[in-house]
Amino acid sequence: MGKKLEYVNISSQEAMELEKTYGAHNYHPLPVVIARGKGAKVWDPEGNEYFDFLSAYSAVNQGHCHPKIINALIEQAKILTLTSRAFFNNKLGEYEKFVTGFFGYEMVLPMNTGVEGVETAMKLSRKWGYEKKGIKPDKAVIIFAEGNFHGRTIAAISASTDPDCNNNFGPFLPGITIIPYNDTSALEKVLEENGYNVCAFIVEPIQGEAGVNVPDENYIKKCYDLCKKHNVLFVADEVQTGIARTGRLLCCDYSNVKPDILILGKAISGGVLPISAVLSTREIMLVIKPGEHGSTFGGFPLACVVAKAALEVIKEENLIQKAAELGEIFRTEMRKIKSSLIETVRGKGLLNAIVIKPTNNFEAWDICVKLKENGLLAKPTHQHIIRFAPPLVITKEELYQAIEIIRNTILNLI
Ligand SMILES: Cc1ncc(COP(=O)(O)O)c(C=O)c1O
Repeated sequence: MGKKLEYVNISSQEAMELEKTYGAHNYHPLPVVIARGKGAKVWDPEGNEYFDFLSAYSAVNQGHCHPKIINALIEQAKILTLTSRAFFNNKLGEYEKFVTGFFGYEMVLPMNTGVEGVETAMKLSRKWGYEKKGIKPDKAVIIFAEGNFHGRTIAAISASTDPDCNNNFGPFLPGITIIPYNDTSALEKVLEENGYNVCAFIVEPIQGEAGVNVPDENYIKKCYDLCKKHNVLFVADEVQTGIARTGRLLCCDYSNVKPDILILGKAISGGVLPISAVLSTREIMLVIKPGEHGSTFGGFPLACVVAKAALEVIKEENLIQKAAELGEIFRTEMRKIKSSLIETVRGKGLLNAIVIKPTNNFEAWDICVKLKENGLLAKPTHQHIIRFAPPLVITKEELYQAIEIIRNTILNLI
């Protein structure tokens, strides 16, 4: 038991009751209330300390309440927060120059949430398809992969194969073809048959929500080459895998592939504000003309300053290198655990998962509850997979402590 947080005037029980009574039940949270965060750790109102091994689905790569990002937020908030894009503001252009340079692209379209980034990429792809590729009106097709997760709008769930995402939310968007993930023959077949109508292939280089599904080593490169052959845009959704999480700045860097359109979100703000970005070439980006797409908040001055600070932290604190090194340690140590519960350990950098054998009496949820009781927060993705994705600022010492918690929890279960 820790020391109750003095400035928190509500108990865990009360906070959970309030959420259950007054909030929509769209999530199924672990029974823990977080009242404070610092680096790789969080605390509940009663003062119990936990390692955060979810990082808000990889948004908090730079650690909770990173002082540089928080200072940038506070200083800018005192001066100017939102102008809308009806006017220019003095921070957006500077940020656009910075972020395009950071990721090696010519232009950026700033949005807010990850799914808005995906939506933007879909619109951009379709428009490019009609205006540059010459697809006949309303015939454009976008290809997606089974098991994907691109967010929760109607467009994104129209591409989803997860019943939890699309059950009773139809009718869905036309112009979407879904093929198996990690199957280049399937992509080749669709492109051979209907490539002239296809404007884009949108794919995650590792499927995070599906359970950290790591495709074959040459998958991304082969898909990229097939897209080039058929004049199709290769679009990478790196909302979860991007920004150092997998041990490279972008997960596509492992394949030496530069996507035609890159979608980023989450960690672009270090988890401080909802900020996303779509990056591409001038040629592709300029198919969208003034007045044809927008968002009241997209590119707001506060976001520009926060995102710049958050990306600087990635470089200044060597978080790419850290994710790569600590990820190796994590997987090696997990594979050493001698337990019949563990089917496999997989991942890249600090985006990892343990697959629990479906034959035993425990589901991933039960193990996550035990982990929580032992001071580590992780979340199941699907019934038998636990994702482990701590903030990249976690120290080696903290990582070994966390590994100890996971080891003991698993070994004491049976
Ligand atoms: C790959 C991917 N794309 C898009 C999204 C949606 O992002 P957001 O929840 O910010 O809309 C997510 C969220 O988990 C994601 O993992």
